[in-house]
Amino acid sequence: MSANDGGTFDAGARPDFWPDFWPGFSPGDWYAIAADHDVIPGHIYRTTLGGHDLAVWRTRDGTVQIWRDRCPHRGVRLSLGEVAGDELRCQYHAWRFARGGACTYIPAQPAMKVPGTIHAEVWPAAEAGGLIWSGIDPQGAPPALPAGTVVRALPVARPAAVVAEALAETDWPGLALVVQPADAQSAIVRGVATDGDCLAADRLLRALRRRIEQNGPEQNGGERGA
Ligand code: FES
Repeated sequence: MSANDGGTFDAGARPDFWPDFWPGFSPGDWYAIAADHDVIPGHIYRTTLGGHDLAVWRTRDGTVQIWRDRCPHRGVRLSLGEVAGDELRCQYHAWRFARGGACTYIPAQPAMKVPGTIHAEVWPAAEAGGLIWSGIDPQGAPPALPAGTVVRALPVARPAAVVAEALAETDWPGLALVVQPADAQSAIVRGVATDGDCLAADRLLRALRRRIEQNGPEQNGGERGA
């Protein structure tokens, strides 16, 4: 068996817990990254925040786990794996990781006590207002949105700062919206319909997306934060 192939651990694969900051992504803020109902039991939801791919899942008691979508062994996406009880099992060599990210079992070396240094990169997690929130080092509680029904997430092919500026320019009756910075060039609008009318909300959001994506960066407030 070659080094780090199916069982042995390469120290170079250790996760970097605080990834590089992406310009325009504020490390102290909470960002909505999923709806509560996106992360159903046994399912691994994949999303992106600040250029970092994340795998989101729940333990049996419903606790949300948000991990970097990269196995600390050989870098395979953890979102391709499967949830087994309170653990996530990587699809490639079936290493298992418990809540909190610690590796608990390496099938190729079943008698080995797994070193505590082997663990998935865990991101902060919170649930509030029907949404799941994360961030690099978020302070305080997630933003308190008004009560309502969570609307469909809307990807927009423009930087988060441009999308946020467009949202701030318009009054959105019946909607409370936030922006998920996906990567340097795209964002996802999430939020709630305070009147529960998700169809009307969807129409408004799609109109917003058309307007933002059709306009150039100048019309949308420049490329700040891009
Ligand atoms: S890549 Fe080997 S267990 Fe995940």
